[in-house]
Amino acid sequence: MNITWDADKYTKDFSFVHQYGDGVAELLDCPPGSRVVDLGCGNGALTERLRERGFQVVGIDASGELLEKARKSWPEIRFIQGDAADFALEEPADAVFSNAVFHWIEKEKHPRMLRCVCRVLKPGGQFVFEFGGQGNNRLIHRELETAFQEHGYSYQMPFYFPGIGEYAPMVEAAGFQVRAAVLFDRFTELKGDQGLKDWIRMFIKTPFQTVPDPDEQEEIIDTAVDRLKKDLYRDGKWYADYVRLRMKARRI
Ligand code: BEZ
Repeated sequence: MNITWDADKYTKDFSFVHQYGDGVAELLDCPPGSRVVDLGCGNGALTERLRERGFQVVGIDASGELLEKARKSWPEIRFIQGDAADFALEEPADAVFSNAVFHWIEKEKHPRMLRCVCRVLKPGGQFVFEFGGQGNNRLIHRELETAFQEHGYSYQMPFYFPGIGEYAPMVEAAGFQVRAAVLFDRFTELKGDQGLKDWIRMFIKTPFQTVPDPDEQEEIIDTAVDRLKKDLYRDGKWYADYVRLRMKARRI
């Protein structure tokens, strides 16, 4: 999915994305000095956390805007612009790590992406990742779909959110042994009075390309957000109904 990111706003208002990523990174159990790839590194915040643990890191991302931010923030880290399904390294890696990225990649592209990850790893290398799993943001997408329909448009949910039963076999077929897999709810606090509205504006971009009038786009968002208030607004704070799929695998 080709998206232009507002790298400053993403970094300022959506820092929870990389804060939660720390828990995923804890699954890596390689020694300091290991070569670790942060696949879909975005603004590089987690790549830096991995570097602080003593790993030799490289960050890979498709977004020029986010990489520019990453390079400015951490000039000593190597960041490469590349496609998750089609990248190569000069030397094989001990581990590949990825947080909150794979749901942006179309389902059809996942087998190629997983084979690509397998190719860059040493035999026995670790692959640790988390992304949106089955049912992720179900409430949000349901209300957006209804609001789109009421305005005469159809809503194409732009993400891939698989369950364990669907994804683990794909990981295995690419050449990995799956060592752990979990799907869990993570009701996630959003920042600010307009938390949910800002979240929709930041992350749900492509479905709105079919709605030419910006005022109508706003009306759709307002309608959905009003209806979501009963479920996603608690004690003065907005939340998103995240579900995560987390896995740890090893290259055979
Ligand atoms: C997620 O991290 O699950 C996610 C973030 C933005 C849009 C969709 C999903």
